[in-house]
Amino acid sequence: MPTATEPRLVQQMEGAPWEIEGYLKVGGYEAWKRCVKELKATQVIDELKKSGLRGRGGAGFPTGIKWDKVLNHRVPERYFVCNAGEHEPGTFKDRHLLKTLPHQLIEGCLIASRTVNAKASFIYINHEYHEEQQNLKKAIAQARERGFIGKNVLGSGIDIELEIFDGHGSYVAGEETAMLESMQGRPAMPRQKPPFYPTDFGLYGKPTLVNNVETLCNIPRILYKGSSWFTQVGTEKCPGTMMFSLSGAVNRPGVYEMPMGVTIREVIQQCGGGVPNGRKIKAVFPGGPAFPMVTADQLDLMMDFDSLKKAGTGLGSAGMIVVDEATCMVAKTLHFSNFFKNESCGQCPPCRMGTMNLAALMTKIEEGNGTQKDLDSMLQLCGFVKGTGYCTLVTGASVLVQSSLKLFRHEYEEHIRLQRCPSQEAQAGMVAHS
Ligand SMILES: Cc1cc2nc3c(=O)[nH]c(=O)nc-3n(C[C@H](O)[C@H](O)[C@H](O)COP(=O)(O)O)c2cc1C
Repeated sequence: MPTATEPRLVQQMEGAPWEIEGYLKVGGYEAWKRCVKELKATQVIDELKKSGLRGRGGAGFPTGIKWDKVLNHRVPERYFVCNAGEHEPGTFKDRHLLKTLPHQLIEGCLIASRTVNAKASFIYINHEYHEEQQNLKKAIAQARERGFIGKNVLGSGIDIELEIFDGHGSYVAGEETAMLESMQGRPAMPRQKPPFYPTDFGLYGKPTLVNNVETLCNIPRILYKGSSWFTQVGTEKCPGTMMFSLSGAVNRPGVYEMPMGVTIREVIQQCGGGVPNGRKIKAVFPGGPAFPMVTADQLDLMMDFDSLKKAGTGLGSAGMIVVDEATCMVAKTLHFSNFFKNESCGQCPPCRMGTMNLAALMTKIEEGNGTQKDLDSMLQLCGFVKGTGYCTLVTGASVLVQSSLKLFRHEYEEHIRLQRCPSQEAQAGMVAHS
């Protein structure tokens, strides 16, 4: 069971986030100094493996194993990219980290880049995150002044640079291979995987380490405090904490760091302060709209990669969206279906046509023109396109509709019977969007 002790990732610091003094006072750049002076790459990776850290970008892949693959690749030219593309509805935890802990991220990036011996290193950042980019730039300048970045780092003979890459600004561009494509000046469209993953064939076709912002922010802390400190919280298979982006029907939406394995109820009650106006919970998207939703009787589910997978949904990047009883589920599902339609890059025909047709059928039902046959068509279409894309966008679009129809079919049937949306809010165009 998770134990709630001190946070693993977020630290209280003095001064503005980009000011290096505050970060140095809490042990900042100590891990980087050790990496430069004494730790071998294999020792860093061993510590990461012991920590059990899993990627926080959505897939939960073990970080130490990924770093090992790149380090031991036979091709000597490698790259490192921090993925700060963040574009999913209801997910804003990386933005918070970029804004508040730029030095911790920079330190994590330096350690990652040095460990895999990258030729060049980048932070690929959502192009709408202006303030965060500015904070990062100021922080990089201060780290450079202190000799942590640049030529001959801390007199070690190591040269290291970290560049900010202004991102493409679409959801699919956060998918790592689409991101790498767009960094090479091509359309942000995912590559087919398998057989090749970025660890083999990444930027410029060379082995590339890609990690999420939150994953990287954990690295300096693990090396500074030790893997056994890190594993004191969370679950056995998912140690540490997770940054939850909490939105929708809660009193206090925001970003919260909680131990892995915390229950959905605890996040909603303790962090979010419950649901406004005494309303009941109708559904929760524990891992954002690309994973099946759960209902009010499942609030004691634990929030970690394995528990949610076992329950038939997923943690993703922990963008938890709470839906209350006053919300029309058809309108809510339509909102996200439109998102997937708009964000499909159009490369894979099942995704291009699947997301378009699902959104069209959802619109038809929400506007009061649906038939029973449309419900069957939607389910058939979901089954047909699920799992067929180069990335998981179309799978997300299908499981959204499947889970909505499975759990709230009566609402769809009510729309068809009345030939309108029964929800007053939806009729007035006031459906709460997350
Ligand atoms: C459609 C789509 C969008 C994604 N967007 C992001 C993103 O914005 N940030 C991110 O870190 N990972 C995103 N991912 C996951 C990345 O492809 C990749 O798994 C992740 O960056 C790896 O980092 P990690 O191992 O530290 O989790 C996305 C995946 C998909 C399929």
